[in-house]
This record gives sequence, C-alpha cells and structure tokens, in this order.
Amino acid sequence: MRKLLITFAFSAGLLAANGVQAGDAAAGRVKAETCLGCHGVAGYVNTYPTYHVPKLGGQHEAYLVAALKAYKEKQRSHETMHANASALSDDDIADIAAYLSSVK
Ligand code: HEC
Repeated sequence: MRKLLITFAFSAGLLAANGVQAGDAAAGRVKAETCLGCHGVAGYVNTYPTYHVPKLGGQHEAYLVAALKAYKEKQRSHETMHANASALSDDDIADIAAYLSSVK
C-alpha cells in the first residue's frame, strides 16, 4: 500500500512538472459557459462581439492552457482576458481546455 502511494505521488508529480493535467471536459463545459458570450463556439449563436474574438472550439488543449495561464500571469496582456483568466484555478483551466478542445 505504501509503495502504491509513493508511486502515485511520484506520477502525479511528474504530470504536474510537465504541465500536463488531465482536464475534465464535462466540468469544463459548465465552467466555460461565461466564456461563450464572447467566444463563438460551433453550435452557439454569437450576437455579441462587436470586435474580433478568437474562436476557441477545437483549439489544441495545450495551447488553450498556455494562453489562459499567460493572461492570468500577465505574460500576455489583454485586460478583458486577464480579468477572466484571473478567476480561474489551474484545475478550472485544465477542465475548460479539455472541453473547448473537444468541441468541433
Ligand atoms: C468579454 C469578452 C470575453 C470573455 C467573457 C472571455 N473572453 Fe477570451 N478573449 C476575448 C478577446 C477579445 C480575446 C483576444 C485577446 C487578445 O487579442 O489577446 C480573447 C482571447 C482568448 C484566448 C486566446 C485565444 C487565442 O487564439 O490565442 C483564450 C484561450 C481565451 N480567450 C479563453 C477564454 C476563456 C476560457 C474564457 C472564460 C473563462 C474567456 N476567454 C472569456 C474576449 C473574451
């Protein structure tokens, strides 16, 4: 049992070190609801934006994670997205990225 726990902790550490977190797409679908008012995802009708907003559906998961973390940490500057990303935990980001990347 102890050995199992150590193995588990070790693999979890490896995953975190690689920045690879298995996101939960079902949870992400709920968490991404506030994002969809601006980001047109296939299947949703977007009445607003009045300015260009990148399409997120089908985007690569790793790219979405990187972009959201960059906004959160202000490595990528955009006030609106900084405000949105700041409210997200790493788990939220992983879940949302898993969901959005699964949308075709
Ligand atoms: C008020 C409108 C608005 C909301 C709400 C919003 N975004 Fe954005 N988002 C934008 C705009 C505008 C950009 C382009 C910013 C730029 O030029 O860097 C953007 C950029 C992004 C990008 C980078 C896309 C790329 O192609 O590089 C990601 C990822 C993203 N948003 C995710 C989200 C997520 C996830 C949420 C919900 C938590 C969200 N956004 C909520 C307006 C919004």
